Amino acid sequence: MKVLLTRPLHDFAVNELEKRYDVEVYTGKIPISRNVLVSKLKNKEGLICYPYDTIDIDVIDAAPKLKAISTYSVGYDHIDVKYADTKGIVVSYTPEVLTRATADLTMALLLAIFRRIVEGDRLIRKNKWKTIFGPDEFLGTELYGKTIGIFGMGRIGKAVAKRARGFEMNILYHNRSRLSVKEEKRLGARYCTLEELFRKSDVVSIHTPHTKETNEIVNLKLFKKMKKTAFLVNTARGKIINEKDLVFALKKKMIGGAGLDVFSKEPISANHPFAKMENVVMMPHSGSSTVETRQEMAEICVKNLILSLSGKKPIYQVKI
Ligand code: DGY
Repeated sequence: MKVLLTRPLHDFAVNELEKRYDVEVYTGKIPISRNVLVSKLKNKEGLICYPYDTIDIDVIDAAPKLKAISTYSVGYDHIDVKYADTKGIVVSYTPEVLTRATADLTMALLLAIFRRIVEGDRLIRKNKWKTIFGPDEFLGTELYGKTIGIFGMGRIGKAVAKRARGFEMNILYHNRSRLSVKEEKRLGARYCTLEELFRKSDVVSIHTPHTKETNEIVNLKLFKKMKKTAFLVNTARGKIINEKDLVFALKKKMIGGAGLDVFSKEPISANHPFAKMENVVMMPHSGSSTVETRQEMAEICVKNLILSLSGKKPIYQVKI
């Protein structure tokens, strides 16, 4: 069988595939262009792809032999999973292993905006640190006793709640379905509406998948409900937020700031309005970027593909 990887992966992972299949690793400009993807997929049974590869109806139709798609990510909004299913293509992904890393990055962004860490670093590098220890010098905000609003209480949302508890924060959450009372108790989290979440939180952290329903669900209407001092953190998907509205809300000081790992179009440039705001901390979509996690993702991604191509159930199959 023939397999395509739309970008290089760890050597051990490619070797595992090469033991079984005729493997083509695309090494050109990333992300692979649509035309190149379509032409390379014509004779492939298996595909390993990434969040920046759009696998839609046309791409699937251009791959008549395709049996399995394994994405190197927890998010699968770049794949038309329903259509793939109608063609008998198994779609798999890599959840769980990246929960800790993404929750850690969420806390890092949260601390960075609450304690102005990046701003402080910039100040020193620009040789602007003049006053020492003044009573109102470079004040940040404490996490202790503040309310975090977790939008999306899946694996990552729960891991964030666990960490937030360690910082003695109060936890509100909103989710498609409410957790059991037992689990709410275990996490110390209280369920509320999305509107209440935005109204009452000192920081709202987004952990919901990007779907038709959540596309730009976080917009001016919700920013208007937020406290002027409140922050927004997003380590999920950029398109969940209406970015123009967020820029507006930040410019008008409707909210206190933002910590963003994801953007509606990536990569963003240094000319983006976010890059000009002191109260915005950014990361280049790195939620799962740790040595440990990326290695585990590669292992699972390859196992998923091998299992799917041999007609077995992958470790993590996307449910329709
Ligand atoms: C994913 O796996 O979907 C993440 O966004 C990558 O960091």
